[in-house]
Amino acid sequence: MRIAFFASHGGSNMQAILDAISVGNLHATPTLLICNNPDATAVKRAESFGMPVFIINNNTGANERERDNATVKILNDAAVDVIVLAGYMKKIGSQVLLAFSNRILNIHPALLPHFGGEGMYGMRVHSAVLAAGAKQSGPTVHLVNAEYDEGDILAQKAIPVLPDDTPESLAVRVLAEEHKIYWETLEKISEGTINL
Ligand code: GRF
Repeated sequence: MRIAFFASHGGSNMQAILDAISVGNLHATPTLLICNNPDATAVKRAESFGMPVFIINNNTGANERERDNATVKILNDAAVDVIVLAGYMKKIGSQVLLAFSNRILNIHPALLPHFGGEGMYGMRVHSAVLAAGAKQSGPTVHLVNAEYDEGDILAQKAIPVLPDDTPESLAVRVLAEEHKIYWETLEKISEGTINL
């Protein structure tokens, strides 16, 4: 299973998946990182791993369609099977969605279908969970379609929300679960337990 990562910032989820591959827990081949932000820590992480990085942003194509087509070409040239979104802050283009239908995964830091949708990212998600008085939160791995956070759910891990949680403290515990559930889900896809 050949994986391409899309990331915009830290890339700790990408790193956790690369680590799982390195130690033999995940049977997959990392091929490349597509990133819109050349200064992202994710770029440094990919380079340290020896994985090619492609920067695609407003400076690298005349318009969205051109960038979308360039992205499909990069992915096809690398014979990518599955796209792993790991904190990618741009909407996926229609050509990529078409070419990789049901083969694009995302991780969201709350239990979808709650606390998702456009604008729900980062601390906003954890603040909304606390404001709603939810007793549980945790990551969701899901397929990506044209609507934010609405693709089929592949895996979730519920953890308790603690009485004295702040958005930051909850984020730390959810992120720790993200770093396990993402590669575990990919391994299930790789071994055929989950069929995309
Ligand atoms: C994570 O919280 C993930 O749930 C969301 O974006 C964040 C990415 O973090 N989609 P990182 O860049 O992997 O550290």
